[in-house]
Amino acid sequence: MSVGQRAAEEFRRLHGHAPAGVWSAPGRVNLIGEHTDYNDGFVLPFALPFRIAVAAAPRRDGLLAITTVGDDGVPQRAEPVAVASLAPGSVRGWAAYPSGVCWVLRSAGVADGGVELVIAGDVPAGAGLSSSHALQCATALALLGLAGVVPGSPSAPSLPEVAAWVQRSENDFVGVPTGLLDQTASLCCVAGHALFLDVRSGAMEQIPFDAPGQGLEVLVVDTRAKHSHGDSGYRTRREGCERAAARLGVPALRDVPADRLAGVAGQLPAELVTLVRHVVTENERVLRAVDLLRSGKLAELGPLLTDSHTSLANDYRVSCAELDEAVDAALGAGALGARMTGGGFGGSAIALVHSDQVARVGQAVSAAFARRGFAAPRLFPAIPSAGAGRDL
Ligand code: GLA
Repeated sequence: MSVGQRAAEEFRRLHGHAPAGVWSAPGRVNLIGEHTDYNDGFVLPFALPFRIAVAAAPRRDGLLAITTVGDDGVPQRAEPVAVASLAPGSVRGWAAYPSGVCWVLRSAGVADGGVELVIAGDVPAGAGLSSSHALQCATALALLGLAGVVPGSPSAPSLPEVAAWVQRSENDFVGVPTGLLDQTASLCCVAGHALFLDVRSGAMEQIPFDAPGQGLEVLVVDTRAKHSHGDSGYRTRREGCERAAARLGVPALRDVPADRLAGVAGQLPAELVTLVRHVVTENERVLRAVDLLRSGKLAELGPLLTDSHTSLANDYRVSCAELDEAVDAALGAGALGARMTGGGFGGSAIALVHSDQVARVGQAVSAAFARRGFAAPRLFPAIPSAGAGRDL
């Protein structure tokens, strides 16, 4: 049963009638381009086959009522709140994510009635695979859908506009200063493709990504080290980048050319120099990765992935022992390249592996984790899947 069908069934079980509709949105991996989005740079994600589904129906009493149903089938119901009373800080915990979307769409004047939501999904939570963005994007499509708005259709808001709303709800309502990578990936990805996004211009290119066709697999290693954006590490990196850009006199670190890097050292404190170096070199790596993908040379991505990890670990300092071990063990067992994916401080790594070596690499990573006394990692292939949409 799909997560959409599960959400519909749970809705019926809880409320005794069918929902008006079901919408779902996927989690993602980012192939490369980490911590570049809020620096106006480049990213290259693709959607995963894991989704969060939201079954929805209007309510006449103006309340927002949300129930989430876990894998164990046990429903967790948030205290219903009046849509009109939603304000930043008014809802805490997991319910803040869908509530923020409701708040932002009401503020934008596009959807403002009471609503009943039932949520089910299979995106691993806390694994750095964007489960919270999948939830927010599915909620946005559900609320818009109930209001009769189908993003992307004539005279309706576009999917990138919806992504910007979702980002605003996360930044201003939930209070987490994330960029545009995850919402855009969840809403705009296309099955069988990676999405090249220039965050500054909003330009997007869907690039075919057929790893099995080239005898390859992108293996995801969920390290089970919990990752959370609320942690101050993400915020301090972002603030550091903004300070560095201001001191260098550029709108964003995107605007620092690579040949200016050497001179930057004399202009900034050491802790900002390394942030700048990561962002500048990472943007270059994305562009090189895009060239390789356009010419179908997937296997050659390996060294770029590994360089990205080294830069994130040493310069940006957002890796952790589990992510480093996943990367080292995968490379030691023959992966062509490997890196952490997502915000870091825990979560998941990806490894580019020859299909016939997937089992061997997986075993090596699991064995290394056991030796280090880490929780057993969860391993699965990353298959470029469809973006958000209506299920039922
Ligand atoms: C998180 C954020 C994104 C992006 C990545 C790092 O996933 O939500 O906006 O900044 O971290 O690339």
